[in-house]
Amino acid sequence: PGDFSLRGKAAASVVILGGGVAGLTAAYELGKAGYDCTVLEARPRAGGRSLTLRRGDRLTEENGPAQEVTFGEGVYFNAGPGRIAQWMLAIDYCRELGVPIETFINNNAQAYVHTNGRTVRARTARADMYGYIAELLAKATNLGALDRTITKDDQERLLEFLRRFGDLGPKHEYDGSTRRGFVRNPGMDGGVPIPPPGSLHDVLAAATGRSITNDFGYDQATPMFQPVGGMDAIVRKLEAAVGPDRIRTGVRVTKITNLDDGVEVAWAGGAVKADYCVATLPPHLLAAIPHNLGAQVTSALRTPVPVAAGKIGLEYGRRWWELEDRIFGGVTETDLDITHIWYPSHDYFSDRGVLVGYYNTEREAELYAALTPQDRRRKAVTQGRKIHGDKYGKDLLSSVSIAWERQEHIKGGWVRWPAFDSSFTLLQRPAGRVYFAGDWLTHLIAWQAGSMESARSAVTQLHRRALQSQ
Ligand code: PHE
Repeated sequence: PGDFSLRGKAAASVVILGGGVAGLTAAYELGKAGYDCTVLEARPRAGGRSLTLRRGDRLTEENGPAQEVTFGEGVYFNAGPGRIAQWMLAIDYCRELGVPIETFINNNAQAYVHTNGRTVRARTARADMYGYIAELLAKATNLGALDRTITKDDQERLLEFLRRFGDLGPKHEYDGSTRRGFVRNPGMDGGVPIPPPGSLHDVLAAATGRSITNDFGYDQATPMFQPVGGMDAIVRKLEAAVGPDRIRTGVRVTKITNLDDGVEVAWAGGAVKADYCVATLPPHLLAAIPHNLGAQVTSALRTPVPVAAGKIGLEYGRRWWELEDRIFGGVTETDLDITHIWYPSHDYFSDRGVLVGYYNTEREAELYAALTPQDRRRKAVTQGRKIHGDKYGKDLLSSVSIAWERQEHIKGGWVRWPAFDSSFTLLQRPAGRVYFAGDWLTHLIAWQAGSMESARSAVTQLHRRALQSQ
């Protein structure tokens, strides 16, 4: 299913609006089939949200100061996408383009869960919740509460499973488990397990539910993957394959005119006419560009709601999370406004490392976005100290933070459709000679795979038509 090629050659010209993952994938696939493509990108660099920051980069932001990235040599921060599920098209493009991938650890039992002011290892939170749930269900079974629901035989099978699921004792009681972890690890002796769990009430009141179920999701199941050296390896390879001469940066489109025999696209100081257009800009930005595609298209483009998203990269000169907390990759889930802390899944034991100190959306993202970079960092460190203690504030070398809704020509982390309704499906079809593409046109919003699926769909439709009119 991953392999894709348009069948048959066509020589039509296509102007592609936006040099993000959707635009570059469209240009790449059309290029393979013989099309003459031009990509117009408003930002100084192609890639869109697939942005990896390194030493020497300068990150600008609307209504905010520019940030200079001063990371050490070889250190990077994926400011946009950071993880890929195994089934996603981004994996296929990594293979096709020769981008090496490595494991992205998105579930680490050794990472923490921080809720209601308390910090425990993820393994402990899980063991306690599974343990007590298993105990309760076993109790209910043994009291006959399931007698009308399942047979005695199935009750036995259920109990057998619950013993394993919760690591229950002989009377089906949850009494703690070595799964919770150790204060002193086993070795020459059995070690010292961490003190027994609190009551069922305490465990329920800790509200760890969201934290311990994240990777149950189809798109978050472990293991996930990342390109070696930074997520932007994918867009750099796509760029190279498309041909840098076909990608015009710094071009902000001001008008899209659908004609009988082509499409004209204009910008300040220039215009281009092509046989077809693939428009991949975020819908809320596309809606604001004068066009003659009709009021229905405009109203459909205005339907999805931009979602704020933010991240901060904290560069440390000592990988204390590995040395002291023994956390090698993974994510700490919190109910704080930072939401998550990500530990790097690469370059273990090296001198430096970048933590994602917050990765949040909506209200929490807007809260941090409103602060100066220094205050974002200060706040992120204050929150991180609640989990990791004082060392979180030490050995900090540099930081850089992004508020996606303040990124010029992007203006959002992603979008949310109030409903996948007729506006959504309308834009999956061309308006005249203009085709739309982007993660926002798929059920894989906020995934590069969505942009890629959408680009494939648009170029497939376009190609069918071009072959017919040849
Ligand atoms: N793809 C992004 C991530 O992995 C955003 C996202 C999160 C999208 C969860 C869907 C579900 O964080």
